Amino acid sequence: MEGPATTAKARVGVREGGRWSMELEQAIRGRRSVRAFEDRDVPREPIDKALELASWAPSAGNLQSRDFVVVRNEETKEALAVAAGGQDFVAEAPVVIVAVANMERVMHYGKRGRELYAIQDSAAALQNLLLALHSEGLAATWVGAFNEAQVIRILGLPVHAKPVAILPVGYPAESPAPRDHLPFGEYVHDEKW
Ligand SMILES: Cc1cc2nc3c(=O)[nH]c(=O)nc-3n(C[C@H](O)[C@H](O)[C@H](O)COP(=O)(O)O)c2cc1C
Repeated sequence: MEGPATTAKARVGVREGGRWSMELEQAIRGRRSVRAFEDRDVPREPIDKALELASWAPSAGNLQSRDFVVVRNEETKEALAVAAGGQDFVAEAPVVIVAVANMERVMHYGKRGRELYAIQDSAAALQNLLLALHSEGLAATWVGAFNEAQVIRILGLPVHAKPVAILPVGYPAESPAPRDHLPFGEYVHDEKW
């Protein structure tokens, strides 16, 4: 049996002998986009824990220019599903988290901050969030296809807030097979393109 030190180290992905712990590798390989959820509520605690872990992602100037709106209201979820072009699984999830780029917080970096860093900050936090949810036994899908103006209106977002992704979250009711991945040599370029 693993001792508490080993377990704690593995949980935070500490390097051991030059390799990342298998637990981190398994979490990365095992996460799937899930679009069917069990018909049971998700307590607040694992959602809050995953959102807290999301905030450990890197961000430009450590400005952490991303916010999250956590939605449980049925009408709001249904409106978000419509805004996502009728992706009904959005409304069927017990919890929906909307990731929002906060352009005001990254103002220091001007146009590049608003147009690039705030989106990158959001994306980095989103991947942390997906992995953290997965490690809590929860599942989600990153939904990027949605009408931005509609989401802004539904959530009452301020002018400096740009919705980046809608994440329906719940306990998985399906186990999707891994998707195909590009061969390593097709996306990794040595020295030059
Ligand atoms: C930027 C982005 C936008 C996406 N938009 C949608 C979407 O609108 N609807 C959906 O069902 N899945 C969406 N996905 C999920 C992808 O389809 C999924 O991540 C991909 O097929 C790989 O599957 P996996 O996540 O299970 O590895 C999106 C993913 C990303 C990163």
